[in-house]
Amino acid sequence: MPDVDDLKDTKNYHLDVPAKHEPFFLKGAGALDWGMQNRLARVFNPASGRTVMLAIDHGYFQGPTAGLERVDVNIVPLLPHATALMCTRGILRTTVPAAFANGVVLRASGGPSILKELSNEQLAIDVDDAARLNVAAMAVQVFIGGEFETQSVHNMTRLVDQGIRAGIPTLGVTAVGKNMTRDARYFRLATRICAELGAHFVKTYYVEEGFETVTASCPVPIVMAGGKKLAERDALTMAYRAVSEGAAGVDMGRNIFQSEAPVAMIQAVGAVVHQLMKPEQAYDLYQTLRRDEQRGRRVAV
Ligand code: R5P
Repeated sequence: MPDVDDLKDTKNYHLDVPAKHEPFFLKGAGALDWGMQNRLARVFNPASGRTVMLAIDHGYFQGPTAGLERVDVNIVPLLPHATALMCTRGILRTTVPAAFANGVVLRASGGPSILKELSNEQLAIDVDDAARLNVAAMAVQVFIGGEFETQSVHNMTRLVDQGIRAGIPTLGVTAVGKNMTRDARYFRLATRICAELGAHFVKTYYVEEGFETVTASCPVPIVMAGGKKLAERDALTMAYRAVSEGAAGVDMGRNIFQSEAPVAMIQAVGAVVHQLMKPEQAYDLYQTLRRDEQRGRRVAV
């Protein structure tokens, strides 16, 4: 029984201090419930308002991708530098240390492999399992203009509904088919559809012309997709342009884990995203850290 004898008198109500009401820091997320906001604050750094999400979910449709052959060896050392991690539940349960305290964005759609029509996805997880894994968000591919466009949009809306019930936000991932034009007009269409139909944040590719119109017309945060491997200097420049033009960070995979020095690269991307470090300076940082990383590897051998 609690000790209720000799309770101290209450007295200090700070009557001269108005109650604080601080708006939630993320675009379009002000009206979400506490649990949703708390989860989003594990995906996006509340201090910078942006994220360096490390995407390693490629295996869900293409198997052991270059750089992801051994997630325990190649990816686990990068985790301290990631604001959030995007992965499948298989890799999460088998390989990601449970002490990883940042946000996990769980791949929630799948079905076809690279041998088949990729837009023919379905939801590939029950929201109860996502809650059990304590993930910060769920990610679903949306194929606007693709063969199974409507099915993929319905996957997203169903996931949004289930996620809202459990307090788990949804990331809509705009997937571009092989023959589709990657321009600002297309990405305005795709990202806006995702946001209008309930996605809490959207992943999309960077375009040189008009990317700021994509971020401006989307009422929820946009994270820039990394895409195929570029030279480190070019990847850092693309990330810098994206955040300068309104992206709330990046969701990058191959441009980090296929780099010659992944630990150096994720830190350089972090400096660009969180501190808005200029690309040239970030590239110098990458070079310095790369030398340390390679020296460290030689010592370990
Ligand atoms: C793409 O839509 C999938 O989510 C990928 O598996 C992954 O996230 C892509 O990352 P990146 O293009 O940066 O390697």
